[in-house]
Amino acid sequence: MCGIVGYFGNREAAPLLVQGLSKLEYRGYDSAGVAIIENGDIKVTKCKGRLKNLENKLEENPIHGLVGIGHTRWATHGQPSDVNSHPHSNKTETISVVHNGIIENYLELREWLTSEGYEFKSQTDTEVIPNLVDYFYEGDLLKAVIKATEKMEGSYAIGVIAKNEPDKLVAVRKDSPLIVGLGKEESFVASDIPAVLAETRDVYLLNDKEFVILTKEGVKIVDANETEIKKDIYKVTWDADAAEKGGFEHFMLKEIHEQPKAVKDTMASRIAVGQPIKLDDINITKEQIQKLNKVYIVACGTAYYAGVVGKYAIEKLARIPVEVDIASEFKYRDPIIDENSLMIIVSQSGETADTLSALRLAKEKGARVIAVTNVVGSTASREADDILYTLAGPEIAVASTKAYLTQLTAMYIIALFFAEQKGTVSTEKLEEIKTEMLNLPDKVETALSCKEEVKALAEATKNEKDMFFLGRGVDYAVALEGALKLKEISYIHAEAYAAGELKHGPIALIEDGTVVIALGTQEELFDKMVSNVQEVVSRGAKVYAVAQMGHEEVKKTADSVVYVPKVMDLLAPIVAVIPLQLFSYYMAIAKGCDVDKPRNLAKSVTVE
Ligand code: F6R
Repeated sequence: MCGIVGYFGNREAAPLLVQGLSKLEYRGYDSAGVAIIENGDIKVTKCKGRLKNLENKLEENPIHGLVGIGHTRWATHGQPSDVNSHPHSNKTETISVVHNGIIENYLELREWLTSEGYEFKSQTDTEVIPNLVDYFYEGDLLKAVIKATEKMEGSYAIGVIAKNEPDKLVAVRKDSPLIVGLGKEESFVASDIPAVLAETRDVYLLNDKEFVILTKEGVKIVDANETEIKKDIYKVTWDADAAEKGGFEHFMLKEIHEQPKAVKDTMASRIAVGQPIKLDDINITKEQIQKLNKVYIVACGTAYYAGVVGKYAIEKLARIPVEVDIASEFKYRDPIIDENSLMIIVSQSGETADTLSALRLAKEKGARVIAVTNVVGSTASREADDILYTLAGPEIAVASTKAYLTQLTAMYIIALFFAEQKGTVSTEKLEEIKTEMLNLPDKVETALSCKEEVKALAEATKNEKDMFFLGRGVDYAVALEGALKLKEISYIHAEAYAAGELKHGPIALIEDGTVVIALGTQEELFDKMVSNVQEVVSRGAKVYAVAQMGHEEVKKTADSVVYVPKVMDLLAPIVAVIPLQLFSYYMAIAKGCDVDKPRNLAKSVTVE
């Protein structure tokens, strides 16, 4: 996730910007840069790679100035490279901008600005911002930034400096975090509190569309009509370590809470009611989609379980047969692939060795490959024919949560796209699904409110040695993911079963007190699921259920029920998995496990 820092004061800006950026390194980044006003000119230094590279460059060619902006970039539009790094400036280098977020209408804006004579050097969405500000600039930076934001759709936290107003820094946010740090005769803006903590503990927490102006007179905050807004100072009492985690105890919990935004970002600019699905980096044609005889979804671990949901979605909506494969098994079973097969690989990191070798095998056999990945410029994104980036931002906890939710979102987007291209679903139904998808971020937010209930449940079951997770339909896919989460971070043995399969063997293991987590979010399969639950209850199992709101009757069969918001069956995994993620998290806490770095596991598995 990108990080921004801005400084205005009477000390050298460069070291303070670098110090602030170093405190945002935890967010993940692939390049860094600063823009500082030196003797009335904007000087920019930026480069791909670690912050150390930027520091070395600044050591060789120091920039002296008291006002500046800095940035660590996590690539979303365009590969990590020097030219794509921030800050970005207009051609005449009179305006410089750092940006965190996504400008969804950047292609439109770019086209329009190009027709107005503007030129672009990078592949980024951000580069439209300094040019927009330039377009509206008539001697007042604040007014130009306000006008520019009126044109910008999407999410942003930006810091802007201008050659013609060297004693000013303007910043604003919408749907991306931004805070103001208040020092003595100096002030800061930053994406997050850790960036300013070494200098001050007094901050303003900005709301959307609040414009902040840093000048010698101090900090002023105004709305889009330039009416001043008075804010209370927030005194930070956390230590630096807690601040990096946004006040959460662990990255995993922070990332679980980032899920509404991650899902929203992954849909943004791709799904809109009344419009066809838009996928910039997918070039497979309608004819190629129509000819597909088989889709293989290949991945590992959590990404594989997202693929299991993908199978249900693509088969149901696009009527193409789908096989889901564990990547480490794929190439050894001599799969039947030809030029009418499509492979979708799902990989947060885009670097998982088994997944990459499946990708290479498919390409060797002439199949087209779509990579669903979270990392721009990863090997998967470079080697695949088409890419669908999940926009979860960097995931730091080893256990995948927000990446999983965005992988599910990506699976639905691909299924809808294929259905649209093949005409397998009526326009009304497609619109109904899109509308429901656009409501998912709010529903995920609501689902997160089960925290306390789930925490109590984890506390009550922390001494269990084994658990079963049961579900039918896509609930079975969620059960698989729930069991994996519990195994990997709380070291409790967990088995996921398709509920109807239980009586073909594993039910022999159910005895007095066996814990069963039962997922019952599928309306179509609900009665069958209730029967399966009764089968285990009558053999002494303690059943904890996850059901959609409104199903009060579940309380009669299960020992307790966690309710999640009502969502159409196919999309239910997006909300149903939330209590399971929280359950594994609180279980790990109750057992004293290292939540963010579970034993024996690595975030990216680059060996077969
Ligand atoms: C589990 C987890 C792993 C990964 C798997 C694939 O929480 O994170 O199971 O999902 O190692 O990794 P990527 O998605 O990077 O290919």
